[in-house]
Amino acid sequence: MPTLSEIFETMEYGPAPESASEALAWIATHEGRFGHFINGTFTAPAATFVTVNPATDAELAQVSQGSAADIAAAVAAARAAQPAWEKAGGPARARVLYAIARLLQKHARLFAVLETLDNGKPIRESRDADIPLAQRHFYYHAGLAQLFEAQNPNARAHGVCGQIIPWNFPLLMLAWKVAPALAAGNTVVLKPAEYTPLTALLFAEVCQQAGVPAGVVNIVTGDGDTGAALVAADVNKIAFTGSTEVGRIIRQATAGSGKALTLELGGKSPFIVFDDADLDAAVEGVVDSIWFNQGQVCCAGSRLLLHEPIAARFIAKLKRRMESLRIGDPLDKSIDIGAIVHPVQLQRITALVGAHTAGEVHTAPCPLPARGSFYPPTLITGLSPSDALMQQEIFGPVLVSTTFRTPAEAVELANNTRYGLAASVFSENINTALAIAPQLEAGVIWVNGANMLDAAAPFGGMRESGYGREGGPEGLAAYTRMTNHAAPALKSKPVALPVLEQVDRTAKLYIGGKQARPDSGYSIALHDTTGALAGHVGAGSRKDLRNAVEAMNAAKGWAKTTGHNRAQILYFIAENLSARAAEFAALIDSFGGAGAAEVSAAIDALFTAAAVADKYDGRVAGVPFGGLALALQTPVGKIAALCPEDSALLAPVALIAGALALGSRITLVPSARYALVATALYQVLDTSDVPGGVVNIITGVQSDLAAPIAQHADLDAAWVYGDQALVAEVERLSASNLKRVSSGPSAPDMAQILRAASEVKTIWIPFGI
Ligand code: NAI
Repeated sequence: MPTLSEIFETMEYGPAPESASEALAWIATHEGRFGHFINGTFTAPAATFVTVNPATDAELAQVSQGSAADIAAAVAAARAAQPAWEKAGGPARARVLYAIARLLQKHARLFAVLETLDNGKPIRESRDADIPLAQRHFYYHAGLAQLFEAQNPNARAHGVCGQIIPWNFPLLMLAWKVAPALAAGNTVVLKPAEYTPLTALLFAEVCQQAGVPAGVVNIVTGDGDTGAALVAADVNKIAFTGSTEVGRIIRQATAGSGKALTLELGGKSPFIVFDDADLDAAVEGVVDSIWFNQGQVCCAGSRLLLHEPIAARFIAKLKRRMESLRIGDPLDKSIDIGAIVHPVQLQRITALVGAHTAGEVHTAPCPLPARGSFYPPTLITGLSPSDALMQQEIFGPVLVSTTFRTPAEAVELANNTRYGLAASVFSENINTALAIAPQLEAGVIWVNGANMLDAAAPFGGMRESGYGREGGPEGLAAYTRMTNHAAPALKSKPVALPVLEQVDRTAKLYIGGKQARPDSGYSIALHDTTGALAGHVGAGSRKDLRNAVEAMNAAKGWAKTTGHNRAQILYFIAENLSARAAEFAALIDSFGGAGAAEVSAAIDALFTAAAVADKYDGRVAGVPFGGLALALQTPVGKIAALCPEDSALLAPVALIAGALALGSRITLVPSARYALVATALYQVLDTSDVPGGVVNIITGVQSDLAAPIAQHADLDAAWVYGDQALVAEVERLSASNLKRVSSGPSAPDMAQILRAASEVKTIWIPFGI
């Protein structure tokens, strides 16, 4: 035993263990063997596998490997329970969500210890972050449920949601998925990760106590095969968090099924430190960013970008801080770094870092425990942007770093990634911080902070980090579908399709604000309802799409125009269209459409889009931190849209109007039936001051253009309305680049178009002195 004066001398931490007995006793009440939670009760354990404590390698419990039959039983229970749960109404659901939140709070210690045992994360984190954030999620969504009908008059639940979650934040990811789904009136089948199923099973007991009706929440444990069975089951939506690789598999598997899909995938988030930053605060930010949860965090700031003037000083400070990091028993309350979730993950991290030779590797000097899966905090300096470790997600406590000279270079390096989940910017200069933050291509940006999360602040990615948001009204929206589509009264009278025949006549496409010959050199002859030749349109192809994307790139300034200016142009289009209303109506009539009604609805869509152009800015999220979290609406970027055949003018014009209103650019492929109506728009666009490249129109055979659109790496979104075979093809092929696909049998209403044309970027601005 050291003497008191010796303790003062060294200031060594004494052991401060949290007791595991309550959690182990809970496991013992189930005799260490768990079945699934289906229709309000636990099934008998079957085909079990072990879940272990990664800090000790000791077996914790046996859980069941869910079969396709288990999934089918759970989905059937969820299906049967759904109508009554939705019909009960928001306030009734709010009571249940509130009861869950209270019970999570009451059993917080048990949940925290169980989480730490199963996952290996420090108890400090499960106690202070995972469990309180999960509670907060249920409280917040009890509120959204209470207000549901008032705030979402046209929204309905999807129905049954399949939810697949990872092992890094087991209960928190469950809360992120279950709370909004239930608030909106869905029922769920949730599959926890195979390494960390225990807190989900404890949560099942909370559901029993909270009065969740049988079948509303179902939990089926198992591995990727169980997950795949859930994806294939009769569910209306899949919500997935996990690796980009599995995200792609799920995108392919659900293509054309009509199942809604949200994906929250990996990241390689930049952590930028400017020379005017508070360097000590930034060092603590790095600790929170990459060593929180052993770096097994999808939004971890794993790429350190340092301003050259302070780089050496910062690295020295960081190395000094690494000396005081404590690694060891996760149940010890003064431990900073716990265990890696599983030996397989430890092996993965070791292999990734071991295969790398560039740069200088520095590991924290703390001794590693003799058993269990532990990896030391590691810093690799002097890498170049193209090095594999600068690009690849390591998903462990490994930080890579490089330097930059100018703010522009910082932005370029930060965005030099296929991911787009999160970013941190450290600068004491408000101008620098707020100028840089919006330029970062990421869904969440922390100014002078890292890894801040809250139920009110939308979280989610761009690019290959996936799509959809969790948290806030935006996250709730991902659990609803809109019931109002573009006016069905406008559906064209049924007529025979126009006869298409390829003839070598020159007709033009509209690219970059100019009429352009199609690359194929071919035209398509179109006939009206009487069978008479009505005219020719160009037969667009892959090459023309490439040109249109280049034209959209050249028109990138559109995203920076003011809402006021965009509204002016939309009003101008409406004015020019209305000046030619009779001509357009007659043209539409000649192809069997409802001319006058379509023209009038199209003008109305332009007015609506113009009206919202300067009013769709986003909101301030009420997060329980000092400062602000801004949920900003940003343009989704470059869109290619296949127009439906049931609308001659309203659909194309509404898609253009919605995209332009929010600063996105669009390339339309009109339906063959109404292609000559779309070509008549060239002149309207020309005379309305629409900058070249902001709107492009490629006529042709839609099925020739679907694959090029899905596969184009430099398009941000594909909108496919109409032909379900094309929807399936585009959804399947988009798995390679994970572009956002919006689809449906006909064009959606303006509210949904606006949602598809924009993406929420959450910027956290903590302040205080
Ligand atoms: P994973 O993506 O394989 O697992 C996540 C979840 O998906 C688990 O519940 C798993 O059982 C399920 N799953 C696996 N294959 C499936 C399939 N074909 N269909 C449906 N569900 C399936 O992640 P894993 O293997 O545990 O970790 C590998 C890497 O993934 C990590 O090293 C990390 O890079 C990344 N990852 C990213 C996460 C994030 O939050 N973005 C979370 C977990 C892992």
